[in-house]
Amino acid sequence: MIQPSGDTHLLKVRNLNKRFGKGCTHCHSPNDLKNNDNRCPKCGSVWACIDVNVDLYQGEILGIVGESGSGKSSLVKSLYFDDAVTSGEATISTYHDGKANIFSVSAQQKRYIRNYMMGMVYQNPWLGLKMSFSSGGNIAEKLIASGTYHVGNIRERASELLLHVEIPVGRMDELPKNFSGGMQQRVQISKAMANNPPILLLDEVTTGLDLSVQAKVLDLIRSIQREFGVSMIVVSHDLGVIRMLADRTLVMKSGRVVEQGLTDQILEDPEHPYTQLLVHSLL
Ligand SMILES: Nc1ncnc2c1ncn2[C@@H]1O[C@H](COP(=O)(O)OP(=O)(O)OP(=O)(O)O)[C@@H](O)[C@H]1O
Ligand SMILES: [Mg+2]
Ligand SMILES: [Zn+2]
Repeated sequence: MIQPSGDTHLLKVRNLNKRFGKGCTHCHSPNDLKNNDNRCPKCGSVWACIDVNVDLYQGEILGIVGESGSGKSSLVKSLYFDDAVTSGEATISTYHDGKANIFSVSAQQKRYIRNYMMGMVYQNPWLGLKMSFSSGGNIAEKLIASGTYHVGNIRERASELLLHVEIPVGRMDELPKNFSGGMQQRVQISKAMANNPPILLLDEVTTGLDLSVQAKVLDLIRSIQREFGVSMIVVSHDLGVIRMLADRTLVMKSGRVVEQGLTDQILEDPEHPYTQLLVHSLL
């Protein structure tokens, strides 16, 4: 494991396993499945994450790349407690001194961690935003969840956040369902940032956007990282996006991490055949 010198570790994930489906005698353990496949031919269950380890250091951007279905969204959704893990451990160094497995704390504690320590930008904006709430209302929801109740303070903070993502404050009372894809992602980013979380999870935040909009969103993410020193996990199937953002990268395939290291190193000298394929497709 490469640890950037001088940096302290914030989030540590060990042996995260996530299975969708009931499982059967044939797929009780992911290792029972042949050819490194992650789908059970007998019962159709999928091991979306298999023994995944992640280290996230203070202030870094960690990239997660992999083809469609490799388990990237399942991993970040597990970390945000949207989906319960099948097994595994995760600790946050600033939560109970990094001694509590956040996957096994109470539902109330999970809400606390999610509301005070994390922000999430979903691949699908319909999962991240209530489309029948105004943009300001969406931001307010996160602020209220993290203990800001004063209406004046909420509006002030929401304006400040929207300004930061270059959405005209005059549009604060509009519904995000009437916004363009790029704007919806920017509202999601401002909502995710509302509680100043130390950990930000970004899932395919630029996928499906025009190149020029994509560039703006990437700039925004970099400026947030520089300004607030947030630690981020950036998920993308696009190695170009990862190259622009991530200091270190994990490569996933069929639920497993098949390669990890400094992004530059992975791009220059990919070791795993699958990573080589990804890198070559970028050239
Ligand atoms: N709610 C679910 N129920 C059943 N299977 C699921 C569910 N969510 C994901 N899966 C399966 O888990 C595997 C991993 O899916 P996941 O969405 O994590 O992949 P991904 O790497 O994010 O892909 P993409 O790049 O397409 O977003 C896939 O085989 C998928 O079909
Ligand atoms: Mg996904
Ligand atoms: Zn099975």
